[in-house]
Amino acid sequence: MDQPAIHPLTMDGRDPAALRGDPISGDRYTSREFMQQEWDHLWTRIWHVAGRTAELEEPGDYVVHDFRHESVICIRQDDGSIKAFYNACGHRGMRLTEGSAFAEAFTCPYHGWKWGKDGVLHYAQDPHDFPQGNPCGKLKLKELRCATWGGFVWYTMDDAAPALLDYLAPMPELYKNYPMDTGVRVFWMKINLNTNWKFATDNFSESYHTRTAHPQVPPWIDQDVDTARHEMYPAGHGRTVQPMRPSLSDRLPDGVPHPFDHILRQWDIDPDSYPDYETKAMQGWLDLKAAKRRLWRERGYVHYEHMDDEQITDSPHTVIFPNVTISFLPDNILFFRTEPHADDPGKCTFDLWCMAFPVAGQAEVESIMAGPQPFSEADMLWRDFDNGRGVPEIEGQIVYQDMMLAEGMQRGMHSRGYGDAYLSAQETRVRYFHEVLNDYLAGRR
Ligand code: FES
Ligand SMILES: [Fe+2]
Repeated sequence: MDQPAIHPLTMDGRDPAALRGDPISGDRYTSREFMQQEWDHLWTRIWHVAGRTAELEEPGDYVVHDFRHESVICIRQDDGSIKAFYNACGHRGMRLTEGSAFAEAFTCPYHGWKWGKDGVLHYAQDPHDFPQGNPCGKLKLKELRCATWGGFVWYTMDDAAPALLDYLAPMPELYKNYPMDTGVRVFWMKINLNTNWKFATDNFSESYHTRTAHPQVPPWIDQDVDTARHEMYPAGHGRTVQPMRPSLSDRLPDGVPHPFDHILRQWDIDPDSYPDYETKAMQGWLDLKAAKRRLWRERGYVHYEHMDDEQITDSPHTVIFPNVTISFLPDNILFFRTEPHADDPGKCTFDLWCMAFPVAGQAEVESIMAGPQPFSEADMLWRDFDNGRGVPEIEGQIVYQDMMLAEGMQRGMHSRGYGDAYLSAQETRVRYFHEVLNDYLAGRR
């Protein structure tokens, strides 16, 4: 097997020597002043995901992204491009629309002004009554920069921000083999959580918690620390690449059905043909790559066409600074994101989007975080976590287990007994995330 090429921007995400050692203090999670600094220096400067390009198929299709007290409309234009506008009327500032839908024009519910999908004002009542001149054709909704990558629609409030692909580097290169536009969001949930948004980035920046929090994972994704690659990148992004094969040090008891056996059988490999557990894990994983290479076309797994040997079986779990996590699985893309509550640093929303690639003849697909789902675009479910009671669809799943821990972490951040994290090397990216955040807050980025 070829060794995967390591991108030249990669820094060792298991080496704290590259860090300053900034403390990860509790007030970062609890203080309103810190929350305000994040608004002033982070959220108004980064690129945000507003939605999926699949939601904007026709001119006039739009999505609204609400973030704290701000709201942005991204709308498909007649020429196929997508424009983003602040969701505030140019007359007196009224919010123009809620949710996502289709519009030829936005009619303001207050005095009836009509704004075209290009943002230009088309109609105002009594247009002759404006001493400063007829506003029609002259006024325009305030526009933001908008771009697409990965089947996602992004915008930034910062006119001076780097171009989206530069901001994301090296992700567009690392994941160029995945036909991400074709991923269908088969499960979509937004969850109100009683924790600071940074919990999720911290959590998704390490896999050290997996054995404790997610005991179902080691038989499926190798959790041995030395078989994973921990990578981080200058812009603050990072990833952990783990082989999707059984960990050698975490074994299910004999007689318990093994998830890897099921995966091998799916690709015509007999799990009983291996002499022992180690050979099945290691040689079976290589045989799986070969079987997928041989059979993908006839089985309709067209998304494998350009994937390399690592991508076709493994799991690069990827954090895009500051608040987006994308897990690239061979057949799925999982999108996780937290966003701060409008006013309370102890609350956030958690977005869970499970996407699956189309496979000929598959009407039902494994969503990974919410069980089997029909292969079609899902509607959003918006819930309170309510200590797990509000989200029965994901009970016992990996993200559910993470959320069960989230509120306890938030309570711990208030304690005088907590001062700073004491991190293992494999958790280096947790501190790196906070250092990049500090760089933003100090105006160094
Ligand atoms: S605020 Fe929109 S028309 Fe008056
Ligand atoms: Fe987790």
